[in-house]
Amino acid sequence: MSKLSPISSLTPLEARADYGALSDAILDHDKRYHGDDAPIISDAEYDALRQRLNAIEVAFPELKLAQSPSEKVGAKPSSRFAKVAHVVPMLSLDNCFSDVDVADFVGRVCRFLNLVNAPAFTAEPKIDGLSCSLRYEKGILTTAATRGDGAEGEDVTANVKTIADIPHHLSGSIIPDVLEVRGEIYLTHADFQALNAQQEKTGDKIFANPRNAAAGSLRQIDSTVTAKRPLRFFAYAWGEVIWDSQPVTQLEMVQSFAGFGFQINPRMKLCNSTQDMLLVYRGIETDRANLGYDIDGVVYKVNDLALQARLGFVSRAPRWATAHKFPAEQATTLLEGIEIQVGRTGAHTPVAKLKPVTVGGVVVSNATLHNAEEIARLDVRVGDTVIVQRAGDVIPQVLGFIPEKRSVQSEAFAFPTHCSCALQTALVQEEIASGETSAVRRCSGEFACPFQQVEHLKHFVSRRAFDIDGLGDKQIEFFFSDPDLPVKTPADIFTLKARDEAELIKKLKNKEGFGELSVKNLFDSIESRRSIELERFIFGLGIRHVGETTAKIMARAYGNWVNFEAAALKVAAGDAEVRAEMDAIDQVGDTVIDAVARYFNEPHNRNAVDRLAAQLRILDAEKPTSHSAVSGKTIVFTGSLEKLTRDEAKAMAERLGAKVSGSVSKKTDLVVAGPGAGSKLTTAAALGVSVISEDEWLALVS
Ligand code: IVH
Repeated sequence: MSKLSPISSLTPLEARADYGALSDAILDHDKRYHGDDAPIISDAEYDALRQRLNAIEVAFPELKLAQSPSEKVGAKPSSRFAKVAHVVPMLSLDNCFSDVDVADFVGRVCRFLNLVNAPAFTAEPKIDGLSCSLRYEKGILTTAATRGDGAEGEDVTANVKTIADIPHHLSGSIIPDVLEVRGEIYLTHADFQALNAQQEKTGDKIFANPRNAAAGSLRQIDSTVTAKRPLRFFAYAWGEVIWDSQPVTQLEMVQSFAGFGFQINPRMKLCNSTQDMLLVYRGIETDRANLGYDIDGVVYKVNDLALQARLGFVSRAPRWATAHKFPAEQATTLLEGIEIQVGRTGAHTPVAKLKPVTVGGVVVSNATLHNAEEIARLDVRVGDTVIVQRAGDVIPQVLGFIPEKRSVQSEAFAFPTHCSCALQTALVQEEIASGETSAVRRCSGEFACPFQQVEHLKHFVSRRAFDIDGLGDKQIEFFFSDPDLPVKTPADIFTLKARDEAELIKKLKNKEGFGELSVKNLFDSIESRRSIELERFIFGLGIRHVGETTAKIMARAYGNWVNFEAAALKVAAGDAEVRAEMDAIDQVGDTVIDAVARYFNEPHNRNAVDRLAAQLRILDAEKPTSHSAVSGKTIVFTGSLEKLTRDEAKAMAERLGAKVSGSVSKKTDLVVAGPGAGSKLTTAAALGVSVISEDEWLALVS
């Protein structure tokens, strides 16, 4: 095939020959990959073949075969999906569980916006499926991505193109330049049952509920499988939009999606009061069983998009929307045992092992019992018939037992006093901030405790931390306990290959059933993580109280690893000034700082961190919105503001990359003062800090 000649210079005859050869080659590689699990070319080479095939189809549409490999989407030979960064993050929703919660939500919105009367809200069913973002450029579907971690999802374009509800081209005459339509992929009850019946017939996996079935169907490597699953899609939100005539309300925006060819939920309503919202909720709740698909609540959204923009986001959820969840579902079953799980921080958590029971469409066999006090409070015993509850995505809970069914021989559960690891370290209950004793019993062995070591490693490789593909819980346990090639701390992961590659390959193949390719993939994914974002690195360390959000905040505040480590070591050594600086970081307080100090005070941890850092290239953190006039600045708001509420002003400043502080010091860059500002103005004048009015602030940031 004339591989190197540009498509534009091909004669129709050459194109035909080229096209035929490409089609054959792709089909052959598909078979080797899918059928034989033995590809002979790299993913990149395969992609190049497909790209050329697509390009020829565009230039010579008459050549396109009815059964073109370009339509046999999903044959992409990748053990995982490519990543897609969401230009506008895909957020989750805060939850309300009662009418009072809904009234509080509306109250918060009003206070934030300083409104006397509540604005209008839309109300619509909360579909229990999986969300997906569909990007249309000039009306053509270019990319479809799952939500992933909200910032980055998986590229499922090929699979999504097989879904009938999802148009490949937007219909209508006015087409936005860019439109990312977001919504839920789901299965109806009828389709779900038919699918499971079919699966049973063919001896394939039975899905627990429609959502799992939808997710499993979408995330197929081979999209011809997806194509056979009757997935559906409701459009209800959007990401990036570049559109001159974009509507100004939620309702109109979603209605415009219907005009573009999407299904929108017919139960979506506009509400003018909290009472209206609750009425819609009750109506949907009543009809829930007859909708024909799973829903788990009602979503309320501020209708006016300008107000939505003012409200913005907190952490992972918008301030302008909430999910009103339906009450939990319950069932009774036998408590077969109580197992103690040891977490990364040594916390000993009792887990109820249940005789499997279906609660709200999901088979439940484990439920949390929280801690020893909870077991005592519930007085549940092994052998009891217990009441189990499941609410939405929440871990199932045990609510109590049925006394009539208790055996006379049953005995109260004796919570262990020592860790069950080989060290048998005593369990301790720490003092919490309020001076009370924590209900959590923790093994005090920390990094010496093998249970905690292995949990730290699992955390380290997990999706939100280092995200090392092919290295899951099972493989970590395997490496951890291997006598010859042990992985005890994260640095050991990065020295695995160098230590004894041949031995490792032999073992993996024997014990873990890895093929040649998957061992190579594993090494590749480890190698690809040698360059790591600072926030993932900090999160991966597993410092208590330093979750993903805090890690991100720390990364942004310190910019690079050298600065962060220096600060952490100084804080650990009791340096009051550096501690105060860390304390000035928004959302970082004593709990986090104490945890950082404790972590870096421990020689074992410092050593493990140094060894790890030596294996990696830790990338500097991205500077937040460096183009804004106030990014990186410390701002103090004082006096009464007239156009913005304090919360709104603070959120606005933070969105633009500024830090908001409560008091004026030599670190303050700017004071925004409204009427009635007092001593802060005097301090600002004494320190020579600029002071501007609210109007000047608005002009500065607009
Ligand atoms: S709006 C920024 N509307 O619920 C707001 N979400 O718990 C984005 N969901 O990730 C979400 N039905 O997968 C919205 N009518 C609906 C929804 C809905 C289901 C899902 C969605 C989201 C999750 C949050």
